Amino acid sequence: MKKTKIFADANLIIGTVDPHLYGSFLEHLGRAVYEGIYEPGHPTADEDGFRGDVMGLIRELNVPIVRYPGGNFLSGYDWWDGIGKKEDRPVRLDLAWHTTEPNEFGVDEFMKWCQKTGIEPMLGVNMGTGTVREASRFVEYCNHAGGTEISEMRRANGAKEPYHVRYWCIGNEMDGPWQIGHLTADEYGKKALEAAKVMRWTNGEGADVPTPNEKLKLIVSGSSNHEMKTFPEWDRIVLEHTYRHVDYLSMHRYYEYNEERERPLEDFLGSADDMNEYIGTLKATIEYVRAKVRSQKQVYISFDEWNIWTQSAPRLEPLWKRAPHILEDVYTFRDALVFAGLMNTLLNNCDIVKIGCLAQLVNVIAPIMTEKGGGVFRQTTFYPFRYLSNSARGETLRIFSDSDTFENMYGKAHYVNTAVNHDRARRTVVVSCCNYDQSAREAEIELRSFGGLKAAEYVEMTSSDLGAVNGFGGENVRPHSKELPAVKDGKTTLLLPPMSWSYLKLTY
Ligand code: AHR
Repeated sequence: MKKTKIFADANLIIGTVDPHLYGSFLEHLGRAVYEGIYEPGHPTADEDGFRGDVMGLIRELNVPIVRYPGGNFLSGYDWWDGIGKKEDRPVRLDLAWHTTEPNEFGVDEFMKWCQKTGIEPMLGVNMGTGTVREASRFVEYCNHAGGTEISEMRRANGAKEPYHVRYWCIGNEMDGPWQIGHLTADEYGKKALEAAKVMRWTNGEGADVPTPNEKLKLIVSGSSNHEMKTFPEWDRIVLEHTYRHVDYLSMHRYYEYNEERERPLEDFLGSADDMNEYIGTLKATIEYVRAKVRSQKQVYISFDEWNIWTQSAPRLEPLWKRAPHILEDVYTFRDALVFAGLMNTLLNNCDIVKIGCLAQLVNVIAPIMTEKGGGVFRQTTFYPFRYLSNSARGETLRIFSDSDTFENMYGKAHYVNTAVNHDRARRTVVVSCCNYDQSAREAEIELRSFGGLKAAEYVEMTSSDLGAVNGFGGENVRPHSKELPAVKDGKTTLLLPPMSWSYLKLTY
């Protein structure tokens, strides 16, 4: 049997994991909001119409921050359509997804849902059809205490205290021709700079007197993926305009299993290593601009859309339907395996990626699926997220692994893909390990400088059927507990079954 050595030391640290790495995303798209988190009349809905069963699963996932309201939807959205009395709110066409938006759920409902779920909001301002003034007024609505027309509107709508929203995305995927109001890098960079300045001023920043509000954390729109012709020039140009005024560069990436490719499985299994390269290029771009604009400040990456998404799936729902069943990917075991590797990549880049948003949270390319008036189920991808989000905290350790590689459309990828995290506060070490080989492997793991480590939890996801899925009828694909391995002087050996994800938690 092939052996792979994995070595990590408590003193060799990549960086600290920001809890926001485990964020997610909710867009007005399909049934994410309506019939997803919000369904008045559902047996588990509370007095605000928020589904309790969905909230329960989100708590299981331990999601700390949620991006809202889009996505492509954002670039045609007027935030004030979603405030005030529900019966007075306009019904609109949503041109991003060719659906009808009833506006029954808007920012006040979202904020209430966040408060109830214990989630930090991450709002977006429209840079497609939207203006700098509308962006500023959105900040005023959310964060200004009172005494102005806009802040009094919030108070009249029931929120007497300001929301103090800290995280704001300045537009979405503005590099994409599919975006409503798509701009060139130069046009967007200039507009984003003005939006950032004015949003901060609205928040009370920039005057020589202290503001009661915490400083905004602004996220400028980076490349939609690394296959864009404008990548990475887009990111350089946008950052050169905005570096001093923003805190994060956004990046997005979806991977797809494409059976029509020559070597579909190898290509798909190469996703985690490809994501690693993509992050590396943007990290270098940020460093280049930081040097060029002579700034001491570090801009970080907000990887605020990542997941697996079969974009080639045909749409079956008619035009202009309200809450249609669209982008409802049902994830396979194969998807969960690649998904776990993507999570390892995010963890292994936690020095620069400080926010991650799994796109999306409910029904739309999501770990949680709902039935109107009915139940919920956990997708295959739910599990790696749940395990890592709840335990892979603290510091990510640098790994030394002798895993061999395989060729794929992106270049080379490792058969054994690993992340090791050390949480000093909880005195735990977590090893997350994907085996992308068709044969079993022995992983010889050596964890140094911890003292008396012992195994506390060991689970594994494996399946004889790569295409196995979960559904309302049952969850066939889920991790199974394994007998705890012996650990001596920080050394242990795991048997990694062919095509599997293994998770080992140790304590000391
Ligand atoms: O998450 C689905 C869509 O993917 C988002 O609306 C958009 O930003 C991206 O292209």
